Amino acid sequence: MELKERVFSGMQPTGSLHLGNYLGAMVQWIEMQKTHACIYCVVDLHAITVWQDPKELRDAIRQVTAAYIASGLDPKKSILFNQSQVAAHAELAWFFNCVARLGWLNRMTQFKEKAGKDRENASVGLYAYPNLMAADILAYRATHVPVGEDQKQHLELARDIAQKFNNDFRAEIEAKGYKDGLFFPQPEPVITGPATRVMSLRDGTKKMSKSDPSDLSRINLTDDAETIARKIQKAKTDPEPLPSEAAGLAGRPEADNLVGIYAALAGKTKDSVLAEFGGQQFSSFKKSLAEVAVGRLGPIGAEVRRLTSDPAEIDRVLADGSARARTIAAPIMDEVKDIVGLIRS
Ligand code: TYM
Repeated sequence: MELKERVFSGMQPTGSLHLGNYLGAMVQWIEMQKTHACIYCVVDLHAITVWQDPKELRDAIRQVTAAYIASGLDPKKSILFNQSQVAAHAELAWFFNCVARLGWLNRMTQFKEKAGKDRENASVGLYAYPNLMAADILAYRATHVPVGEDQKQHLELARDIAQKFNNDFRAEIEAKGYKDGLFFPQPEPVITGPATRVMSLRDGTKKMSKSDPSDLSRINLTDDAETIARKIQKAKTDPEPLPSEAAGLAGRPEADNLVGIYAALAGKTKDSVLAEFGGQQFSSFKKSLAEVAVGRLGPIGAEVRRLTSDPAEIDRVLADGSARARTIAAPIMDEVKDIVGLIRS
């Protein structure tokens, strides 16, 4: 049996999407939609590993779905759905809880960051989060996973889980006709978006993130033109003018980040951006950056607002996507149960 190439990725509905999500992942998702069968998920079960207000969560699930569509994902072509509507995710995660080792999870840096000092008080779900993520991907036997750089370690874990499952159950897997014990693929991270690590506008050494308490640290896909311009104008910089080539950005994290964002939004290299702006002060560069950002994100924000005004239509998209996702995942789950030695009747 041949493994078909299939793309899976997801984003958490924990607030509105930001420029990091867009440049680090979404742009690549849209690209891959042209060539691959793609499944793009709103990972609501991951969101609840930390406390979410139920009403805000419902709104966020619809808003993230709207942002997927507004950014250019086509719900007819790709499968768009929310994770909790397809039981295979939680189900396969249980199997992977039994495959992954405590030592593997103990190495996950994201858990350490999110749990902070009060680790005893973190949810068990937050700890097992990477197993659910592996289940998301492998419930479809997906081969390619477009993500930003921060997800690299989680994807390595997903690969380890796939490999251990294949090894542990090799005899059963081969008896089912899979050559070389290859039931689960080794999912490949695709970390090639135009900016795989977008940094905070307030601190060039910190990742742009939904959980940063300062809204000035990020540009949301739903920010209006005025807000985008104000956030860029307030973005932290250093006192030097811009260098004339990318090598001059070393040791200047804020400058590097802003030039990187400009380059990613305009589809240019950092060198070509600096060929134009090298020697100039940040004030004039920021004006141009705001124009580029508004030009690119403004229409997406407007479309998100239009789509979210009809929640029933978004729910229909999610229902349709969930039904299509279930059709792919259900037979894979059946095989997992057979392989492990469970009875299905
Ligand atoms: P999440 O919701 O934090 O982020 C969604 C996607 O956006 C990327 N990203 C960034 N890229 C560049 N710069 C940034 N500052 C930045 N911030 C976020 C992330 O790398 C990600 O690709 N665990 C995942 C969601 C997930 C998932 C999956 C992904 C659950 N199951 C299965 C892939 C496959 C997460 O929390 O992403």
